[in-house]
Amino acid sequence: MDKVLENILTRRSIRAFKDDQILEEDLSTILMAGSYAPNGMGMQSWKFTAIQNERTLKKVNEAIRKTLLSIPVVPETHPYVVSLIEKAQDENADFLYHAPTFIIVSNLKDNGNAMPDSALAIGNMMLAAHSLGIGSCWLNQLPGLTHMPLIRVLLNDLDIPANHIVYGSVVMGYAAEEPKPASPRKEVIHIIR
Ligand SMILES: Cc1cc2nc3c(=O)[nH]c(=O)nc-3n(C[C@H](O)[C@H](O)[C@H](O)COP(=O)(O)O)c2cc1C
Repeated sequence: MDKVLENILTRRSIRAFKDDQILEEDLSTILMAGSYAPNGMGMQSWKFTAIQNERTLKKVNEAIRKTLLSIPVVPETHPYVVSLIEKAQDENADFLYHAPTFIIVSNLKDNGNAMPDSALAIGNMMLAAHSLGIGSCWLNQLPGLTHMPLIRVLLNDLDIPANHIVYGSVVMGYAAEEPKPASPRKEVIHIIR
């Protein structure tokens, strides 16, 4: 099978990582692959913030944990969010799967293409990582909480521009688990000839 196709078909989300950091040149390649994603009107208005510093990773995790704790649980709160809030009660809770690298993709608040652009960039990064033997998983907590005041403080600390919000984030590292096989594909294809 063609190598690119095989890479697409064999990538799986990884949620347990070894402590070893990924190579500097691999991180550069992954970020470069992200920057070559198609993007609306070729604006490249995104910013990729890659964090490998342990203290900063802890700071991100703590901002996510504290923000979750500030969310009131009401009957309408989605059960998944309730489970995250419950998890956040534990001060050792880790929302980044103990990964050594975390990449935040931010983009303009008011650009209608920002979400698809950012998702395509992350898709490229995940595939590039997989082809280099590096596991990854999209994480939705930071994007979901991006408008919360504590997260804005964090984004400022990380030099993420004030006119940006987080559209996606991804953890990366060497896999410490064998991922489950891909679930069977749903019948979603309809070809009109
Ligand atoms: C938009 C989006 C949000 C996701 N959020 C999370 C998340 O917060 N935590 C997580 O563990 N996985 C998350 N995932 C990973 C999906 O669960 C995973 O891609 C899906 O189950 C298919 O599995 P695969 O990636 O191994 O093919 C997310 C994926 C996407 C594209």
